[in-house]
Amino acid sequence: MIEILTPDELDRARATGALVGDILHALKARATVGTNLLDIDRWAKQMIEDAGAESCYVDYAPSFGDGPFGHYICTAVNDAVLHGMPHDYTLADGDLLTLDLAVSLRGIAADAAISFIVGATRDPEDERLIETTERALAAGIAAARPGARIGDISRAIGTVLKAEGYPINMEFGGHGIGSTMHQDPHVANNGRPGRGYVLRPGLLLALEPWIMADTDELVTDADGWTLRSATGARTAHTEHTVAITETGAEILTLPTR
Ligand code: MF3
Ligand code: CO
Repeated sequence: MIEILTPDELDRARATGALVGDILHALKARATVGTNLLDIDRWAKQMIEDAGAESCYVDYAPSFGDGPFGHYICTAVNDAVLHGMPHDYTLADGDLLTLDLAVSLRGIAADAAISFIVGATRDPEDERLIETTERALAAGIAAARPGARIGDISRAIGTVLKAEGYPINMEFGGHGIGSTMHQDPHVANNGRPGRGYVLRPGLLLALEPWIMADTDELVTDADGWTLRSATGARTAHTEHTVAITETGAEILTLPTR
């Protein structure tokens, strides 16, 4: 189903988006060398509860995962990229960490993800991976406006990823969002312009380019959730929830402080 939000719902989406952006920003500042992924999960739970919001993850049991997720945030390290289940792992200098968070506040969900390097040792190839997903996201957002189609966003994202030589996995991508986290339309990270659903004001989309350095193939961990690159190569993932407005797209999940 595709939802078009009312102006009141869009106001609530702005509040949810700001909360997601602020929590991710705070967690990024706290996630340092020596931080355990389970600490990040606990902090996320606390911040969600303090805001009176609800986790979109803890009870989530989609076909692509094994039972309820049971955690409050996705933490994906190095070769892990999507649906990273928090576990007993202590972050080390130079780790590439992705945090992906979706919460619901007053009935409207927002979803965002950031990738960053922990500590002081910064591998230039890791920086290029991260920067490429950020630029691809910016290009996707720039292509999102009323009258444009989903394929225009997909093409804009895919063009940036391909220009850097990264393979593109087409199984998982962006999605509509609103009263629930995952809705139609699907937004692949590559595609054909002029194809697909025509964007309208009030549509909320979670756009999320993600890449693996040398493969488009995923493997699933024994936890039944965490998806890693099949080759062990490093990965990155950047996501914002945006609202289609009368003139373009408004990013809802930027941090406000
Ligand atoms: N937020 C993820 C996405 O970007 C979905 C995570 S589902 C979870 O669409 F259950 F693993 F948390
Ligand atoms: Co998402």
